[in-house]
Amino acid sequence: MEFSIKNGSPEKQRGSCVVVGVFEPGKLTSPAALLDKASNGFIAKIIQRGDMEGKPGSTLLLHDVPGVLSERILLVGLGKEKDFRDKGFTSALRSTFKKLNEISLSDATLYLTELAVKKRSVAWCVRQAASIALDTTYKFEQFKTQKSESHRQLEKLKIGIERRRELSDATTGLEQGIAIGEGMALAKNLGNLPPNICHPSYLAEQAQAMAAEFKLECSVLERADMEQLGMHSLLAVAKGSHQPPKLIILNYRGAKSSQKPIVLVGKGVTFDTGGISLKPGAEMDEMKYDMCGAASVLGTLHAVARMALPINLTVIVPATENMPGGAATRPGDIVTSMSGQTIEILNTDAEGRLILCDALTYAERFEPETVIDVATLTGACVVALGNIATGLFANQDDLARELLDAGDEAFDRAWHMPLWDDYQDLLKSPFADMANIGGRWGGAISAACFLSRFTKKFTWAHLDIAGTAWKSGSDKGATGRPVPLLTHYLLQRAGKLN
Ligand code: BES
Ligand code: MN
Ligand code: ZN
Repeated sequence: MEFSIKNGSPEKQRGSCVVVGVFEPGKLTSPAALLDKASNGFIAKIIQRGDMEGKPGSTLLLHDVPGVLSERILLVGLGKEKDFRDKGFTSALRSTFKKLNEISLSDATLYLTELAVKKRSVAWCVRQAASIALDTTYKFEQFKTQKSESHRQLEKLKIGIERRRELSDATTGLEQGIAIGEGMALAKNLGNLPPNICHPSYLAEQAQAMAAEFKLECSVLERADMEQLGMHSLLAVAKGSHQPPKLIILNYRGAKSSQKPIVLVGKGVTFDTGGISLKPGAEMDEMKYDMCGAASVLGTLHAVARMALPINLTVIVPATENMPGGAATRPGDIVTSMSGQTIEILNTDAEGRLILCDALTYAERFEPETVIDVATLTGACVVALGNIATGLFANQDDLARELLDAGDEAFDRAWHMPLWDDYQDLLKSPFADMANIGGRWGGAISAACFLSRFTKKFTWAHLDIAGTAWKSGSDKGATGRPVPLLTHYLLQRAGKLN
């Protein structure tokens, strides 16, 4: 999609459509009022007739309105002005793009981004508009022989800005929103790809391709390298698979080399059968999404590189399949992790933490400023938070706060979960330093506790995205979360958020 910022009044915009908002009950926003004035009260009359009340989610398309240069006007309901916040704004954008896609318009000019959203800047509004435009027009059709081509896609989006002094902020917001939207699309593509294609070697190739595109350093550790490093926990997960595991490392350097990097670690289980602790059959296909942590950190790196942020960022992706087989790890096996701590693997389906712990130990060598891991780690997190909030754990409250704030700002929210020592007992093993499962209750927390034993040397947070990384049901698909949260966090760290 092609984006641009247009300075000027809505009635003067040529093109297929201008989009303006209407509050409940039928109160025109200022761009809508300008159109109304230019058309001698045409819009006010429609509102009086009750065809557009401003209800959230409602839209009304008008053609050939007198005095207005654009072919069409799309009125979008915004709900009550006094309740108009992040949710109202982002929902209005979603309804807008849904409607524009339905009627196959190729271009539109949007006059929603100057609305006063409580506590939000113009840059925020434009950032959201661009990333939501890309999010809602995303399609994954590469395996369909019959594409839904009868339908034209929105190709050009102009963002109308009336006030000249807001142009520069809007431009910054636009660039950031595009970077986030593209990062999400990358994460969604990797997530949606079938597991026979998106295996560990494929992820490694994609990382290398991205490294070439943005001139990043990339290295891929093979099984033999991992053996030498003593990553027997990670290797234990790979044992049942015919696909070789990969440990992918990407380095982005946007700041002085003396500046310590932020390290993102993404769980890259390209298919999780459960291993010998085999999962039940229903919806097992969705375990192709078990590499969405990896996909999201790659998507975030893509966004950061595109924006050329002045930070140093390292991405680590432990990638493997979790398969049953004659060579697979058995429940009861004990392995020694790279950290030297021993683990009794009581359930081979708790494999995410087994690969992450070695990747986290590996992260120490980068002398990180902060480490954040992202993982579709536990079904228990989905039970706790559903598919609205990502589970957030951290060994430092300031970092937790920053990530929560980034999630709020991005409207890609997380919720802080406890990581108290009291929970550590759940992981007791009679035979090894720890077990890899903590029993039935508090499963998201015991998984985080497990990881916390490998992150003592740095400031660390863990995002459990089991509920938020993809949608099930009729609109099954990866969501691209938490690329917005992570990118906002990094924008903030880089001092580029306004
Ligand atoms: N990838 C799964 C977690 C998962 C399950 C994410 C369902 C989204 C939906 C993870 O590897 C797993 O299997 N976790 C187990 C842990 C248990 C054995 C302690 C789980 O959550 O059931
Ligand atoms: Mn599992
Ligand atoms: Zn898993």
